[in-house]
Order: sequence, then C-alpha cells, then structure tokens
Amino acid sequence: MQTKIFNTSDPDLLKASQIIKSGGTLAFPTETVYGLGADATNKLAVAKIFQAKGRPSFNPLIIHCFSIEQIQSFALWSSQAQTVAEKFWPGPLTMVLPLLPESKISPLALAGLQTVAVRMPAHSVAQSILKLSNTPIAAPSANPSGAVSATKAEHVISRLTGKIEGIISGNSSKVGLESTIISFSPQPSILRFGAIDETDISKILGLDFKEKAKDPKISAPGQLSSHYAPKGSIRLNSKVFRKNEVSIGFGKIVCDLNLSREENLIEAAANLFDYLHRLDDMGAEKIAISPIPEEGIGIAINDRLRRAAAPR
Ligand code: TXA
Ligand code: MG
Repeated sequence: MQTKIFNTSDPDLLKASQIIKSGGTLAFPTETVYGLGADATNKLAVAKIFQAKGRPSFNPLIIHCFSIEQIQSFALWSSQAQTVAEKFWPGPLTMVLPLLPESKISPLALAGLQTVAVRMPAHSVAQSILKLSNTPIAAPSANPSGAVSATKAEHVISRLTGKIEGIISGNSSKVGLESTIISFSPQPSILRFGAIDETDISKILGLDFKEKAKDPKISAPGQLSSHYAPKGSIRLNSKVFRKNEVSIGFGKIVCDLNLSREENLIEAAANLFDYLHRLDDMGAEKIAISPIPEEGIGIAINDRLRRAAAPR
C-alpha cells in the first residue's frame, strides 16, 4: 500500500479527510499522541486499524468527536459528563459512557462492549480532520502493537509507512502522554492515568474516584472475555457443522453467518463482533466456527474467539 504524506495546509487537510471519508486509515496528530484514525461507523475501515497496528487482540478504541451533539447521537450524555466536558474539553481527557441502542459506531471499534470511550481533542489538526470528514473517528495511538506511542510524524512514518493510507506531518503532540480515561459507572473510576490529574477531576465533580487503574481488570477491558462472550457454547475450528449448531463460516461454505466468503481476514474482523451480538439475538445455544488462519489480523480474531469460547 502506498502511504501519502500530507502537510497541514487547508488543501492537504481536505485531501487527508477524504481518506477517512472513503474508509481508509489516516495518522494525525492530537495534543496527546498521534492517532491512527478511521471512520468509526465503517466496520471495514475500523478493521484496517487493527490490521495496521498488528494488534494480537481487539481492544476497544477511543471515538474522537468534534462536538457534544455528535457524541449524543451514539452515547448517553449525563450532567456529570457535561460538567467534565465544560472543564476539560477540548483536551486530553476521555470519558467512557453508555452506548445508545441507535448507535451507528461499529461494534468492532468498541470490541463488542455496550459502553463507548469518547474524546474531543484540542489539537487544531485533529479538529480540522474531524470537521472535514464529518464522522466520529476511531483512533488508537498510531504505533505498531507493543511499540511506544508516537509523538512526532517521523515516528509514524518510520513504522507505519506501507501499512496505512495517509499520515499528516504536522506539529508534534505537545502532551506526549495518552489521555486520562474516566468512567462513571458502575462507580466513578479512573481507567487510565494520563495527561489530566485525577485530583483536578475529583474536585470539579465533587467526588472521589473509587477504583484505580492499578486494578488490571479495570484498566484493560478489552482483555475481559465476560464483557462480550455470547451466551451459547462455542466450538472452534469446526470443519463440519452439526445440525443443532448455529454455524459461523469462513470461506466458500454453507453456513448461517459467513465472516468472509472471500477468505478476507479484514472483512472477517469487521463482521466478528456484529455476529457475536447476533448470536444472542438469535438465541443460539450451540455455536460452531470455522478455522481462521493464524496470520495477520487473524491472530486477533482467534484470540477473541478463544476468549469467547473459554469456559465461564
Ligand atoms: O490520548 C489518547 O487517548 C490517544 C489519542 C490518539 O487520542 N489514544 C489512545 O488510544 O491512547 P489507545 O487505543 O492506545 O488506548 C485506548 C484505551 C485502551 O486502553 C482501551 O482499553 C480503553 O481506552 N477503552 C476504550 N474503550 C473503552 C471502554 N468502552 N471502556 C473502557 N476502556 C475503554
Ligand atoms: Mg496505545
């Protein structure tokens, strides 16, 4: 894949935003670290993020927005959220809010959770891209999985060229540390320490944060299987499906739901969480899933499937 490098002039930002609009992946600066963004409502675009990062598992992504109205179209807003937003947004703070049933955000971007992490960045380039592309943008830090976050365009260029559609080479990320993540439910908690101090948030809300990021279960929700395993039992690596099973296939086979007839792993990743949700809607008690190749984003798909199939 050819990676286009853009500067921060208006014509270049417009061209860069076209990448988001057309379902591609674009690295852009935010005030914390560089983000690797894609249209959060486009499942294939979101799958490309995981593919480019080489993430071995699906971790939920932060959804970046330019206005509160935009967030209210998919997340449940509250007076606490309003108070925090008035004080810290735009800025290096992320809030986890309940997802609305009418949300158009791809379930893959949320790793199947019923909550959504949202942030309104302060960096002018990030704001321009959000406005020009006019869609919520899912963006993890723009680094290959396991590598440190990027604070300069050069970091991204050296590691992700050839793997993503575009990189905006702009002014660097001043904060250099990821956003602080807070959640209000089940109780107010800090999920990740970051650029904004916990005590400043406590003060403005007039409350104490009970849970701390030290608890690995809380800080890494993407790793928790119980959040989104379907209710039915799962049989992995099924070459033959049984009559009493709901079948999830891969490739040109007869099945109830096909992750990708063309054996395209990006398409399979894009469909995965949607299908896992559908299984519960269908009341599936026994589920069988085709073997998925253990390569590229297939590693993350298999990781997710193993967690979903693990005994509870
Ligand atoms: O500063 C930042 O936050 C940067 C810039 C690009 O905005 N982004 C970033 O994204 O650090 P990432 O993917 O590297 O980290 C996102 C964190 C993950 O630890 C993920 O588990 C957590 O946010 N997260 C996302 N959605 C969540 C949810 N619904 N509930 C709890 N945690 C969530
Ligand atoms: Mg990261």
